[in-house]
Amino acid sequence: MLQDVAVHSADTPLPDPFDPSAMRAQYRAEGLDETDLAPSPYDQFARWFKEAAASGLHEPNAMVVSTADAAGRPSSRTVLLKRFDEHGFVFFTNYTSRKGRDLAENPYASLLFPWHPLARQVIITGPATRIGRDETAAYFRTRPHGSQLGAWASDQSAPVASRAELERGWAELAARYPEGEQVPAPPHWGGIRVVAETVEFWQGRENRLHDRLRYERQGDGDGWAVVRLAP
Ligand SMILES: Cc1cc2nc3c(=O)[nH]c(=O)nc-3n(C[C@H](O)[C@H](O)[C@H](O)COP(=O)(O)O)c2cc1C
Repeated sequence: MLQDVAVHSADTPLPDPFDPSAMRAQYRAEGLDETDLAPSPYDQFARWFKEAAASGLHEPNAMVVSTADAAGRPSSRTVLLKRFDEHGFVFFTNYTSRKGRDLAENPYASLLFPWHPLARQVIITGPATRIGRDETAAYFRTRPHGSQLGAWASDQSAPVASRAELERGWAELAARYPEGEQVPAPPHWGGIRVVAETVEFWQGRENRLHDRLRYERQGDGDGWAVVRLAP
């Protein structure tokens, strides 16, 4: 800092450390080659997910879900991935929320994992459907008691008069269902499964020559083609 002051005169102002146009990370990560890829994007995702978790980056299961309404207007928000396997990627939410309503009208989603510390990004696109009630109920039982009440207390995405109103609703539920009491899963709450049609693995490289390898599902079967995309 002291050195900066010494070398910058009044007519060559200090670079603004908060100017986004001047922020430029140089990525040196190892590349991603076609020959490195697992045959299925689910297995490839499992490898990268494990590496993201092992790297210690905060909430590796946080992903940005984008949806669009019937008129095609997009919206995005972060949710937590709770399960993945060859059947798809599952998160839990309120079905009457904005995203829930979008998906009822237009059942396609994009999921984006922003693993910046690893200079990696994964983008999944495909149809989105509600999971079965039994699967939702089984997951709901594993949630902490306070979060179970929260799912009942919040009419997600609807306007709320005040913080106090929100907390009053929660307190009423807490009185009705004290700690230890079984809380049923709300009917308006549950899992959404996104079945992958495309899965892109992006690895940052030097000089902006990043690797982008995208799996594309072939027909309705289990076969996948891999396409390299220009960065
Ligand atoms: C790190 C993080 C994790 C979140 N996880 C979830 C989640 O798993 N499910 C969910 O419904 N909302 C989650 N949220 C809140 C959503 O981002 C969003 O505010 C909420 O789902 C309402 O979105 P909507 O009005 O677009 O439907 C999370 C937010 C953050 C920042």
